[in-house]
Amino acid sequence: MSDVVLSIRGLSVEIPTRSGIVKPVDGVSYDIRAGEILGVVGESGAGKSMAGNAVIGLLNPPAHISAGEIWLNGSRIDALKGEAMRQLRGKHIGMVFQDPLTSLNPLLSIGDQLTETMLTHLPINKVEARQRAIMALEEVGIPGAAERIDSYPHEFSGGMRQRVVIALALGAEPSLIIADEPTTALDVSVQAQIIALLKRLCRDRGTAVMLITHDMGVIAEAADRVAVMYAGRLAELGAVRDVLTQPQHPYTQGLMASTPLANPASCTTTFASLSQKLAVASKLAEPILVTKPSTDTILACT
Ligand SMILES: Nc1ncnc2c1ncn2[C@@H]1O[C@H](COP(=O)(O)OP(=O)(O)OP(=O)(O)O)[C@@H](O)[C@H]1O
Ligand SMILES: [Mg+2]
Repeated sequence: MSDVVLSIRGLSVEIPTRSGIVKPVDGVSYDIRAGEILGVVGESGAGKSMAGNAVIGLLNPPAHISAGEIWLNGSRIDALKGEAMRQLRGKHIGMVFQDPLTSLNPLLSIGDQLTETMLTHLPINKVEARQRAIMALEEVGIPGAAERIDSYPHEFSGGMRQRVVIALALGAEPSLIIADEPTTALDVSVQAQIIALLKRLCRDRGTAVMLITHDMGVIAEAADRVAVMYAGRLAELGAVRDVLTQPQHPYTQGLMASTPLANPASCTTTFASLSQKLAVASKLAEPILVTKPSTDTILACT
């Protein structure tokens, strides 16, 4: 299919250990199309992050790709090394991890980090980069972006930092975003806002998203299709509504049965209640600055 952004074919990852070879990812295949959000779900240790890290070339040795192919926009990328992989990560693949502080440099202002990314990957000058950085911050819901742009990461609340990380991940206009548990460390009300933001921005831009999560609620709310992983393998792949209402694989059935959202009969209600939760959460205020609450706290929501 021509609009396929990411194609993973028979991907396996191996880790040699003293007690033998561990295979955290075992023959996984899926595609993600432009503007599509693929949710990757499964219990802890299922291999979700390993598969994501394999795509961005961030497997920690001795973990390595032992079989399969990874294609991005029609080019094979699984054998890329060093500088070529770094270039690809910066320009074509954006990343959002659980803890925003792992993606942000505490010593650089938000503006410097955003403009540096843009200047490296886009054909623009410093003045244009600063303008675009302010626009990017406005777009992710940072009020007073023009004043806030010179703030440092520690001056923002957790939810606001994750908004900045999303702006940073989208800064170079990548075709793929890999978001690994992007809301797990955040307050419940903020979680829904961040998921809604990620969904809206990626839809608008036609960015493909691999959304890794253990949260079926996040999948139901945000994803178009879902890949269920179990013990390194792909247990099930399908449209979210189909997988939620009629899980085919015994593991998915078990996963659904152990999830409060799992009752297939109430799935329509589930979707409705999630939307309500999102609507309520989006009306809740989230403090932007944690350092000077009396004068500088600005309330924001998407
Ligand atoms: N250095 C290592 N040696 C042996 N096994 C490892 C090593 N690193 C990771 N693993 C195993 O790889 C498997 C997959 O890990 P991965 O981090 O991809 O899981 P996950 O699905 O992302 O889980 P979580 O939801 O907890 O983030 C796990 O079972 C883990 O124990
Ligand atoms: Mg993980």
